[in-house]
Amino acid sequence: MSGQVTIEDVWAPFALVLRCGPLELRAVTDADIAEITDVVLAGIHDPDRMPFVFPWSTAPAADLPRNMGVYYWAKRAEFSPAAWTLDLTVRHQGRIVGVQGVSTLNYAVTRTGETGSWLGRDFQGRGIGTLMRQAICALLFDHLDAAEITSGAFTDNPASLAVSRKVGYVENGTNRVQRRPCELALSRRLLLTPENFVRPADPVEVTGVAPLRAAVGL
Ligand SMILES: CC(C)(COP(=O)(O)OP(=O)(O)OC[C@H]1O[C@@H](n2cnc3c(N)ncnc32)[C@H](O)[C@@H]1OP(=O)(O)O)[C@@H](O)C(=O)NCCC(=O)NCCS
Repeated sequence: MSGQVTIEDVWAPFALVLRCGPLELRAVTDADIAEITDVVLAGIHDPDRMPFVFPWSTAPAADLPRNMGVYYWAKRAEFSPAAWTLDLTVRHQGRIVGVQGVSTLNYAVTRTGETGSWLGRDFQGRGIGTLMRQAICALLFDHLDAAEITSGAFTDNPASLAVSRKVGYVENGTNRVQRRPCELALSRRLLLTPENFVRPADPVEVTGVAPLRAAVGL
């Protein structure tokens, strides 16, 4: 018996596809989680650095696969118009290289989202981080009616700060936060508005956005 319901009916973000130059971004699937975890285990950053507020990337290797699954499954299960996170698997020439995400609260009213991303070390420093950020910003401004997009990066993360600068975000203050136990870190706040958005050279092609708009209450 062939059914009528597809997995995109079960969870609307699975219908979404973004393409820009050599990149393709789609919502993280169960099949992606193992490969994403392999990229994390191969290394995202020096062990003595910590680019993330929550230090998920330095969990013991034995715990990481389950942690990654629990994280993505939880974000899927919690997805609602009141609070949604969209994590997109980034493929470069077909190969998984990292994840680009955005998190929101009451988006239909606030029209603001916070971007966050990472790439395996082998794939850093070649413009992929800039392109994947431009792709998600194009989705938010052009297809999801965003009024602004925010981001944050520790002041000792020059690559992330450079990506934000290149995409057009402006500095918007600094937060004092605890990073690892007993460690003060300064987190630079960043703000992108549509008029400052620096688009990629290639167009960002987006399909499957209508079910996502409905799922986020637009
Ligand atoms: C942040 C990250 C996603 C950026 O992706 P990327 O593909 O490396 O970025 P790009 O190659 O597009 O651009 C990086 C820019 O940073 C610059 N940069 C990198 N290291 C730098 C340094 N030590 N000092 C100054 N600039 C630096 C590069 O020169 C480049 O700018 P340019 O194109 O003007 O030369 C990636 O480096 C990463 O995953 N880092 C680890 C995880 C992380 O920090 N995530 C973000 C948390 S806020």
